[in-house]
Amino acid sequence: MEKRLFNFSSGPAVLPVPVLERIRDEMLCLPGCGASVMELSHRSKQFIAIQESAKQRLIRLLNIPSDYDVLFLQGGSRLQFSMVPMNLLRGQSNPAQYIVTGTWGKYAVGEAKKEGVVEVIYDASATNYDRLPSQEDLKISSNGAYVHVTSNETIQGVQFQHDLESPIPVVCDSSSDIFYRPIDVTKYGLIYACAQKNAGPAGVTVVIIRRDLLDRSSDALPGYLNYKNHSKEESMWNTPPTFAVYALGLVAEWLEKDIGGLQAMHKINIEKAKTVYDAMDRHPTMYLGHAQKKDRSLMNATFRFANENLEKSFLAQAQEAGLDSLKGHRSVGGIRASIYNAMPMAGVQLLAQLMDDFAAKNA
Ligand SMILES: Cc1ncc(COP(=O)(O)O)c(C=O)c1O
Repeated sequence: MEKRLFNFSSGPAVLPVPVLERIRDEMLCLPGCGASVMELSHRSKQFIAIQESAKQRLIRLLNIPSDYDVLFLQGGSRLQFSMVPMNLLRGQSNPAQYIVTGTWGKYAVGEAKKEGVVEVIYDASATNYDRLPSQEDLKISSNGAYVHVTSNETIQGVQFQHDLESPIPVVCDSSSDIFYRPIDVTKYGLIYACAQKNAGPAGVTVVIIRRDLLDRSSDALPGYLNYKNHSKEESMWNTPPTFAVYALGLVAEWLEKDIGGLQAMHKINIEKAKTVYDAMDRHPTMYLGHAQKKDRSLMNATFRFANENLEKSFLAQAQEAGLDSLKGHRSVGGIRASIYNAMPMAGVQLLAQLMDDFAAKNA
């Protein structure tokens, strides 16, 4: 077999090796099923058990109270940019409030505006989204249908490390950082996350919704786009993405059993991010961080080179060392190291070593 690279892709992204091995071992014949998971009817008792077990693991990991439902949907987070306002804003007398701290939040606003009145209560575009507001900066009005926030902006690498306080339901796009730390779910009305960054393969999107908010969904909505249908039918309103749900469940099992839960995961993530940022900060004349220090993401570390001509050579040397997909998004430039839960410490250490060596050679 060819050697695995350390994959710093922003998504679809690195998965835990024990999960991949388990999928490989169970691919032809899932224990007790005589078939692969992809060949099972979603109505079979075996698949229903797989989906229920994935749901229960999410509930345990995130400590989700019983007045919330967990849905497994398709269409990625971009569909949630539309489904959220279709279900929670249509027919409401108050506007939706959006906190825009990066590219994804901006896209979410674009879709919400098609559905109703939107107030952007914070927008960091003037500084190319290098910072976050403090809780005090945010003037969340109680006359709002909900407030939307992106907990981690994947492109810019800025991340809230706390749950927001708000008088109205908080809707959180947690696509690139679900499971990176324990959160207080009761502080949220709705959390959504496509799986392909920190939770599994592409194809499934997790939606955690406070059940009372389901009452806002109008029966006039197209069936698939109505959260109420998915809740009532336990994510079986249509055929769920069975393989992706199975793999998501395995990632959740890995987090529970191998890692020891989200508190332990958080500690590891702090350590990994510190390793990269310390390397950046040791060479301030070489590496220029995009995010302000206080707002740095534990998931996506972004930096540019003071001398932009060095970028190509750094990327080539990284590739040579087995460090893959480090090129930053074109809107930020430079390097983006996505260091999600499944990125091993060894990958991060190798990157930090390269950063030190490269800075020494090119000073
Ligand atoms: C924070 C965030 N929101 C939304 C999306 C869009 O997700 P999807 O491609 O699953 O629609 C992404 C990444 O692709 C993301 O990083």
